[in-house]
Amino acid sequence: MAEKQLISTIKYVAATKPAFFLSEIIPYLDEPLPVHQLFSIISPKLSDMGLMAKKGKGDFEIIRIPPAQPYLMNQEELERQQIFFTKREMPGSLAQSIEKYITKKVGKDWNDPVIIERLRRAIVSQKDDYWKPSHKRSLHYIKGYSVLGYLAYHFPVYLIQTGHLLLMLARDGLLKKSMTILDVGTGPGVVPLAIADFYSRLDDAQATIYSLERSEEHIEAFTYLRDAFVGRSGKVRIKPPTKTDIRLMDGDKLPEKIDLVIFSNVLNELPDATMEVRADIVAQISERLAPDGSILIVEPADEENATRMRSLTVALQKKGLSIYSPCSFIWGSTCTAPRCWSFETAPAIKLSRLMETLAHCEDSYRYVNTDIKYSYAVLRKDGMRKENFRLPAGSKFLRLSKLHLHVGKRINVTGLKMSGELGDARSHVFKLCDGTAKTPVYAVLPSYHITPENDAITSAPYGSILELRNVLVRYNKAHDAYNLLVSRNTKVDPVIS
Ligand SMILES: C[S@@+](CC[C@H](N)C(=O)[O-])C[C@H]1O[C@@H](n2cnc3c(N)ncnc32)[C@H](O)[C@@H]1O
Repeated sequence: MAEKQLISTIKYVAATKPAFFLSEIIPYLDEPLPVHQLFSIISPKLSDMGLMAKKGKGDFEIIRIPPAQPYLMNQEELERQQIFFTKREMPGSLAQSIEKYITKKVGKDWNDPVIIERLRRAIVSQKDDYWKPSHKRSLHYIKGYSVLGYLAYHFPVYLIQTGHLLLMLARDGLLKKSMTILDVGTGPGVVPLAIADFYSRLDDAQATIYSLERSEEHIEAFTYLRDAFVGRSGKVRIKPPTKTDIRLMDGDKLPEKIDLVIFSNVLNELPDATMEVRADIVAQISERLAPDGSILIVEPADEENATRMRSLTVALQKKGLSIYSPCSFIWGSTCTAPRCWSFETAPAIKLSRLMETLAHCEDSYRYVNTDIKYSYAVLRKDGMRKENFRLPAGSKFLRLSKLHLHVGKRINVTGLKMSGELGDARSHVFKLCDGTAKTPVYAVLPSYHITPENDAITSAPYGSILELRNVLVRYNKAHDAYNLLVSRNTKVDPVIS
């Protein structure tokens, strides 16, 4: 029996009505079978299709699994989160656990000058490696000091960055009361620890976190920090990481019905992996995603990593995933992410005591890492999008794909603000996107042109949809990009969808 035909028929009928009887699909099949036989073939596959069956008299009613209720934060929970983000620092007990771990690993006090100097060297060599062309990098975290350097330099920023991303997911209603989460390339457990910390400010949410990691040194640090900061029971249960190389992993060993998969700063560490290989890794893991689950991919904000991440999301759309955020296709078009350097920012964090000690020297800037800038995408299997706003047909706005026909002219456009500040205090620059452009587009606002009417371009949050009226189109040959000059005669308004 063509099982494929049966499954695709069920998918088709389920997409057209909320409930139907299994007997209804028999006429569509080339090889009709009795209902109970059809049921035994499809029952293991139903939940992957987001469906369930109710037994009736001689038939089965097929209905959609009701979506899990989103976990919506109450006012007090929101205030607790806000207090945390206003402090802009790691929880004190976690910072101390990192210091104690360093002391335990090196057999001397963490602040012994010899140890501090070794940490400095580890940080510098890790950074040098990071900035090499990607095929020449060797970020393997085999030596103890590379992980200690990571704890000192990267951990605090990535921990708080993950907190911001969790806040965004919570506000979007993508967290559930009880969740299964998988963190891929967990390192010393930055993401699981950030989740435990974030959940400590929620009243009633629970999570079980699984993770994958190949480096023994990272796993050792992860286990120590988990035991010191979270413990093994409580509302967030962090399972021991599975040691594996994600390029060779056995997908059957992953948990089922994962509500949230996170790839934080890991895909860029697969230097020899082509876009197709990266997309295959994400797609393979997404097979274990719950029908209403989300995938969060986060990468550093530098141009190379951010643009690659955006191209990866295009490749993933071809594999059946859809982009929930931050992109929004306001003309209903499909996007190819041309050289798309898009990233989000958050306020810089305060120095940890460890970082302050490291920075107590000449060239202190080399050991200070406080800026939060990241490129992210949330993907789904169910086609849900954060923003469903579409420009109505006949809108009096120019598509960004048509800018080449209007160079030197003043026009009106609608687009999303898709970057933090790319310019400086004299000239503000932000990436703009409406999902149609084949060439990057930037809004440029010289500071002497700022007025209350156009200031929304600087103050609007990342991902906001904006109307820009009366902008001058310029072609920037050096960067093969279009600049839209926002002047004192330009009006910029947020679109309320
Ligand atoms: C930059 S760290 C990111 C750690 C953590 N996710 C974060 O955001 O801070 C990248 C991690 O991915 C791991 N990793 C890189 N390639 C991997 C692979 N092929 N299989 C499993 N883990 C890998 C590294 O060992 C490292 O712990």
